[in-house]
Amino acid sequence: MATYIGAIDQGTTSSRFIIFDKHGRIVGMDQKEHRQIYPRPGWVEHDPLEIWKNTQEVIAGALAKSGIRGNQLQAVGITNQRETTVVWDRHTGKPFYNAIVWQCTRTHEICKQLMAEGGQDRFRDITGLPVATYFSGPKIKWILDNIPEARNAAQQGDAMFGTIETWIIWWLTGGPRGGAHVTDVTNASRTMLMNLHTLTWDEDILSVLDIPDQGLPRIVPSSDEATWGPTCEDGPFGARIPVCGAVGDQQAALVGQTCFAPGEAKNTYGTGCFLLMHTGHKPMVSRHGLITTLAYQFSGRKPSYCLEGSIAIAGALVQWLRDNLNMFDSAPQVEELARQVEDTGGMYIVPAFSGLFAPYWRPDARGVMVGLTRYINKNHIARAALEATAYQTRDIVEAMNKDSGVKLTKLKADGGMVHNNLLMQFQANILDVPVVRPKVAETTCLGAAYAAGIASGYWSGREDLYNNWEEDITWYPDMLQEVRDKGYQGWQKAVARTLDWEA
Ligand code: G3P
Repeated sequence: MATYIGAIDQGTTSSRFIIFDKHGRIVGMDQKEHRQIYPRPGWVEHDPLEIWKNTQEVIAGALAKSGIRGNQLQAVGITNQRETTVVWDRHTGKPFYNAIVWQCTRTHEICKQLMAEGGQDRFRDITGLPVATYFSGPKIKWILDNIPEARNAAQQGDAMFGTIETWIIWWLTGGPRGGAHVTDVTNASRTMLMNLHTLTWDEDILSVLDIPDQGLPRIVPSSDEATWGPTCEDGPFGARIPVCGAVGDQQAALVGQTCFAPGEAKNTYGTGCFLLMHTGHKPMVSRHGLITTLAYQFSGRKPSYCLEGSIAIAGALVQWLRDNLNMFDSAPQVEELARQVEDTGGMYIVPAFSGLFAPYWRPDARGVMVGLTRYINKNHIARAALEATAYQTRDIVEAMNKDSGVKLTKLKADGGMVHNNLLMQFQANILDVPVVRPKVAETTCLGAAYAAGIASGYWSGREDLYNNWEEDITWYPDMLQEVRDKGYQGWQKAVARTLDWEA
């Protein structure tokens, strides 16, 4: 009987389940979007129970569509939107509040207070992160400070905290009937509560944030031979399958792209855009606005670290043009519009909808469109939206080159937007390096499958994984240096216009 590996990808806009074979090829898939809840400007929430329901549905859907039975899966891995935080009742599984999404800026006041007491980099040596609304620790604090029931339960030891992989693994392995309460090192490194060097929760930071430690999950490797428990027979798989891989989605893409050697980098173009460079077994402190984070840890091996440039809004800008401005019906149409014009007519969009993340870390920034004249039409706007993602990536690459002391010579790309040829060509042009897309562009899910498949012995080691990676297409730069420089200078002026706009 053929066996496979299953991977859950619980992302910002949708949940997916993909089934892979030995060659890392997709043999089954299902996907479902969930609601985005915006209670106030800058606030973003998800319903955790809707996410769990959708996860079960896509698992059942992918199995049904592919004709594969649950017991043909040798193991299951999970990858997830990171930082998004849930606090729930361990006896009932009921969340005390909606999940607070990574993009949400509601913890600005908490962060301001933390910075007033010790500056933006007060936890950087320990956690690798600046104080920012992006990370989970302040989100847990917000829930405990604002929802009295949650604070009471936390004090009694009845509340559980977790990022999304923790929430899903808990349910998959039994939920209130004794599900595993774990988080992998990559997700834990996004909480601003974990010591990067010891891979343990930091007591001092917990006490500064007033977060009781009994609600925190156990920190485990991303690929764990121990497994965190089999799935329940009465769950969506209808079988007991080891859950033994969990990796935050951006790190999962690094694994899926087989960036296992120091200096290798990938950029994932999704809702946001995240460029990660492997830096080896020691955390490298960033001096240029990047963050230091866990790349992955395979069971029994030393952890690997990376530098990350996080961009909050990439594909989300295209969705905004579609949903809020009704400029087109489906996201791929943005390329058709952008192709109608040679350039943006001198306009720029800086989508600082959640403030600006790396390398600026300015929660007070807000989005701008600049350089408008009567000449500008929606084609220019579409083009500027795509170019914004490429320029934001250039900002990250500049910082990465300075931090690592090595000039990036090639960029591995993945994620939904890599099917946009105009964007990928412009990316190669504005970076002046080739951009390459692999045949399996679903690298996020693939990385989670690799984590579970290595732990369960489905793949024997990295060699198997390298063999699965194949180039699909490479975009080479073909832009004059003076055009590149002029474009980027304009972008930098536009970025300066976004600052100090805090509502
Ligand atoms: O850190 C946030 C990131 O993990 C979200 O990824 O792909 O859901 O936009 P994505």
